Amino acid sequence: MGYFRQNIEKVKGYQPGFQPKATDVLKLNTNENPYPPSPAVLSALAGIGGEKLRRYPDPVGSEFRVAAAEINGVKPENILCCNGGDDLLTMAFRAFCDENRAVAYPVPTYSLYPVLAKLQNCDAIEIPFDSEFNLPPKLAKTGAALTIICNPNAPSGSFIEIGELASLAAELSGVLLVDEAYADFAEGNCAALVGDFDNLILLRSMSKGYSLAGLRFGYAIAQADLITGLMKVKDSYNVDAVSLALATAAIKDQDYFRQTTADVKKAREELVAQLRDLKFKVPASHTNFVLAQSPNWAAREIYDRLVERNIFVRYFDLPGLSDKLRITVGTAEQNEKLIQALKEILFRNR
Ligand SMILES: Cc1ncc(COP(=O)(O)O)c(C=O)c1O
Repeated sequence: MGYFRQNIEKVKGYQPGFQPKATDVLKLNTNENPYPPSPAVLSALAGIGGEKLRRYPDPVGSEFRVAAAEINGVKPENILCCNGGDDLLTMAFRAFCDENRAVAYPVPTYSLYPVLAKLQNCDAIEIPFDSEFNLPPKLAKTGAALTIICNPNAPSGSFIEIGELASLAAELSGVLLVDEAYADFAEGNCAALVGDFDNLILLRSMSKGYSLAGLRFGYAIAQADLITGLMKVKDSYNVDAVSLALATAAIKDQDYFRQTTADVKKAREELVAQLRDLKFKVPASHTNFVLAQSPNWAAREIYDRLVERNIFVRYFDLPGLSDKLRITVGTAEQNEKLIQALKEILFRNR
């Protein structure tokens, strides 16, 4: 008998993407935004003094709630601040799942969900996507307490139409959590559905669209009763004073957000076209990454050869993914460097 609960002893733990120490690398492996955060964030940072740090932060992040509510067309009571989107996922598992209350989600998807299920000791009902990443009809019938749809999905980059998610929310007896960590790069999101469904929670992240992965800030959008329930399981001060000030500055600068996300989307379309020219199979992406499959090279071999050139992409040794590489969209220049390296690997070095 170890010191830990049995399920904790058994779980392998989430494996975050590799964070190289060197700075002179091309890092396209963890879906960070290639652009810096808004200048408003940096000036808010410069304005933080000792007094802000001496005191505890606002436990609910009122100023952020007001700003995020306005942008999403909801009320501040519909917003819950989180220490990154992952914090919301942890809260949701703690709030809704246990030994008798399962979670369900389509696979392949974000690899944190099964880890959280194991930590919470709940059953995870995994329903495979079809080859087009359509919403599996069986998901509506699992009886799970919590159903998670990552939309757009990671790591496929695929997108399920909002109307389909509305129908799913209406059919489910439990909670539907739509993980919209990448929605900033998609053509739509579920914000307009929140008023209609008392079982719907949206997850938003400031890590991708707002270039704040290092800050750790995300938020939930849901009806007030769900937000109040989730507040019971959150740490009292789950977001710190610095994060609150900086995330608020970021979300208020919508001009900068619109410009940088448009630039990423443009670079994404160019990257997809370039990869397809190199004969990679690349499904349309609605995110800031692409999933690429070479018809004649093992993904692991391409990954290793890119690492030799100080270029990091993501390789998942998982069913359905081990023949593909997930590549974060960089700036046009970074993407060009990747494409040149791929040309060297694929055409000169075999
Ligand atoms: C699908 C998905 N959901 C949620 C998150 C959590 O994001 P964060 O905790 O950085 O806000 C991530 C991070 O990579 C993700 O890929």
